[in-house]
Amino acid sequence: MQKYRVMFICTGNICRSPLAHAVFKHLIHKHGYESHIDVDSSGTGAWHVGEQADSRMRQTAKRHGVQLNHRSQQLKYRALTDFNLLLTMDRHNYRDTLALCRSDDERDKVRMFRDYDPEGKGDVPDPWYGGQDGFEDVWNIVYRTSKALLEKYAD
Ligand code: 4NP
Repeated sequence: MQKYRVMFICTGNICRSPLAHAVFKHLIHKHGYESHIDVDSSGTGAWHVGEQADSRMRQTAKRHGVQLNHRSQQLKYRALTDFNLLLTMDRHNYRDTLALCRSDDERDKVRMFRDYDPEGKGDVPDPWYGGQDGFEDVWNIVYRTSKALLEKYAD
């Protein structure tokens, strides 16, 4: 069986999308879906390509028992053909991802990550310039939304 492939997208691929990637992977493992679902993450910008996730994001995830091992990569057109679902962290990432699409089929695969948030839609706020609280907020949004997304898939 072909795996269902999910790509998480943010701006730098060092805070929000690597967190969603790691949390989703953690939940896939916990529920035994490894042979069904594959995940990856990328950023619309190239500034941090090759870098590990931001240390504040890694620390926050670690406190909650999740390890971030990803290295930043830039989103490329190829992802629109290779992935089944592309989830963007904010409206700018959504616009930039749609701009890469070449067909309606591809555009249909692009959604805002928080469309699956049981507590409401919108952007996952960019924590890059803020304080530690911002990283904890991102954790809470990403964790509950990832759980809801996996439950929807498992339905
Ligand atoms: P992310 O956060 O998109 O959640 O990885 C950002 C990290 C870096 C930058 C912007 C957002 N930056 O402009 O370098």
